[in-house]
Amino acid sequence: PYPNYAPTPPMGWNDWSYYQCDIDEQTILGNARALVTSGLAAKGYDTVTTDDCWMAQSRDAAGDLVSDPVKFPHGMDWVGARLHAMGLKFGIYEDAGTQTCGGYPGSLGHWQQDADLFARWGVDYVKLDGCNVPTVPGETDEQSYHDTYAAWSRAMLATGRPMVFSVSAPAYFQGGPDWNQVIGWSAQVGNLWREGADIALGQASGHEKWDSLTYNYDYNVGLADLQRPGRWNDPDFLLAGDSGLTRDEIQSQMALWSMMAAPLISSTDLTHLSADALAVLGNKDVIAVDQDRLGLQGRVVQQGDGYDVLSKPLAGGGRAVALFNRSSAARTVTTTAAAAGLGHGSSFVLEDLVGKGVTRSSGTIAADVPPHGTVIYRVTAGGGHDIAPAT
Ligand code: GLA
Repeated sequence: PYPNYAPTPPMGWNDWSYYQCDIDEQTILGNARALVTSGLAAKGYDTVTTDDCWMAQSRDAAGDLVSDPVKFPHGMDWVGARLHAMGLKFGIYEDAGTQTCGGYPGSLGHWQQDADLFARWGVDYVKLDGCNVPTVPGETDEQSYHDTYAAWSRAMLATGRPMVFSVSAPAYFQGGPDWNQVIGWSAQVGNLWREGADIALGQASGHEKWDSLTYNYDYNVGLADLQRPGRWNDPDFLLAGDSGLTRDEIQSQMALWSMMAAPLISSTDLTHLSADALAVLGNKDVIAVDQDRLGLQGRVVQQGDGYDVLSKPLAGGGRAVALFNRSSAARTVTTTAAAAGLGHGSSFVLEDLVGKGVTRSSGTIAADVPPHGTVIYRVTAGGGHDIAPAT
């Protein structure tokens, strides 16, 4: 299998959801600077990925990819060097097929050449999309995708540069009969994989964004068995910062993605981030749930009309427990420590990772949860000692 270059879920920023093809080197570097000055980089958001549309329409005479001379006049290696100088990692997008989804040169047949180029440019993270992958005569679609992604994986390994490999293949098989198979080999060839649909774009309405993130959550939350450290399900970008979603909604996405140990990849205009979005993205306690070194994906342990309860084991004992109110009315969500897998003790400490309150419980885990909100606790079996005040 491809080396474990991502022992915890990757974190960072990607331009796509907010900017799509309307990017240039100033957009990328401006957002990178905001990642640093906002303090988000220091909290782990360290990989800046330039998505589709960075390329010129054709390769150069040597067959190498070249950046768009207007959008990226200094070249992608220069962008990468600037990112590295800021202490950030350099991510880049390519496609396994003949063309990217946006119609730029794909990498089919140029695997080693492109992987070598990326390594020379100092790339740390490759997102390899799966548009326009031709079906090889005599092969199934699934086999053709496999061969292409496996060839890329070997090519990346052969460069000798550790580059995190983000695979998009399963997204092209979601809902189809071969999807399981594709996910299976994605976990061999790469470090994370887009399992399904694109999250709503930045300009979508709040309603569309909410539907999109709950769709991706519903799909991803069932995939816990596939995930382990270095092999991550990717339900796509965090939308915090974009207009249209309420604070409770962006907070829910952050909590749910962290419960699933999903990659935390912001895709918004970080140069105009609201205080709410910054607080949500930068919540260290929630990030710690996502980045927990056990790398386990949380599971739904209880479900009722309009709510889900998730539980995720944490290193050092205890669990993160999330109470997700899917409905559009406030409600009390109640579960028990036993249902959350914490055993049948009679003394538990509940730390509210957003509200920051600490309470003691004899087994009930409950909260009043606002519409579309999620309350996330760290729950530990407690002795009789005093609880330190939350900081
Ligand atoms: C696909 C991917 C997106 C983005 C676009 C770029 O739709 O799923 O994340 O990379 O292509 O064209």
